[in-house]
Amino acid sequence: MNVTAGNLEVLESSLLADIAAASDEQAIEAIRVAALGKKGSISELLKTLGSMSPEERQVKGPQFNSLRNRVTEALTARKAELRDAAIAARLAAEKVDVTLPVRQSPAERGRIHPISQVIDEIAAIFGDLGFQIAEGPDIETDYYNFTALNFPVGHPAREMHDTFFFPPDANGERKVLRTHTSPVQIRTMEAQKPPIRIVIPGKTYRADSDATHTPMFHQLEGLVIDRTANVANMKWVLEEFCKAYFEVASVKMRFRPSFFPFTEPSLEVDIQCDRSRPGEVRFGEGSDWMEILGCGMVHPNVLRYGGLDPDEYQGFAWGMGIDRIAMLKYGMPDLRAFFDADVRWLSHYGFRPLDMPTLFGGLST
Ligand code: DAH
Repeated sequence: MNVTAGNLEVLESSLLADIAAASDEQAIEAIRVAALGKKGSISELLKTLGSMSPEERQVKGPQFNSLRNRVTEALTARKAELRDAAIAARLAAEKVDVTLPVRQSPAERGRIHPISQVIDEIAAIFGDLGFQIAEGPDIETDYYNFTALNFPVGHPAREMHDTFFFPPDANGERKVLRTHTSPVQIRTMEAQKPPIRIVIPGKTYRADSDATHTPMFHQLEGLVIDRTANVANMKWVLEEFCKAYFEVASVKMRFRPSFFPFTEPSLEVDIQCDRSRPGEVRFGEGSDWMEILGCGMVHPNVLRYGGLDPDEYQGFAWGMGIDRIAMLKYGMPDLRAFFDADVRWLSHYGFRPLDMPTLFGGLST
């Protein structure tokens, strides 16, 4: 084969034109193989050097080699150029415009559960009356849940609570899921000296389940202890609470004698309501009564268990179902829906997160 300088120039310019026109790295690779691969055009030229005379080889050798070098260089340069362009294109495509306006806050869409709302309302009302919030453990000892509240061992009232018991521990003691918030009365008396004015919101547990009972429910306990607390004070506090909570100007309340081991006398409280409209209960009017809480004067034995001298101190206490008063106020017919975690129910019955209940700003508006 007789390769002239003119042939070489044609080959070079056609290769360089292909390289310049290549639009991606695969095209570059195809040109490289066609020129410099085993059977490539430049490789074939180099192979011919072997059969040349030494004089001819001396002329053609440097020509072929410098052609190979220039083509290799052009391939490398174009490849780098294409890679840079690909990165630039990807950066442009994946660009995030940080100057776009933010979406509406997700907090606007979240809802406060009615139980949390009602606990906040209760805290606002009793906070205004000078009460503090107290809490205690959900897992209780038999002592705090029953004995220290004057339930004698074997007393039938213990059975009334459908208690969840834990298996016996190493000492043979069976802990319980507290059946009421009353054990926190004892824990508070142990921890602080009178005057005591506390409310205790919290979870309570009983083996019971239907439209108005769930195995876990919420109670609000109240406790006042000082040297003079009496039934009249108790009635006033409970009445103030009901008016504020149900957001009505006046309520009629009925106190009926009852029995709890931890109070003497013990009373159950009904509030006047109107149930003549189906599916609706109105407070502060009507001729019906609805039971909403139990209360009484703290039993002297309970004061003793709490480390207080009943000749020096006296007090009153009450307990009510938070879920129940939430259902009454906000017209929710089935208690079980409270614990279904259904977002549709929550967006219907839930509350806006930034509307904190206060007495001056409004409890539920
Ligand atoms: N612990 C009672 C219950 O769960 C409610 C109760 C009644 C609490 C009278 C009290 C009270 O503090 O004085 O049924």
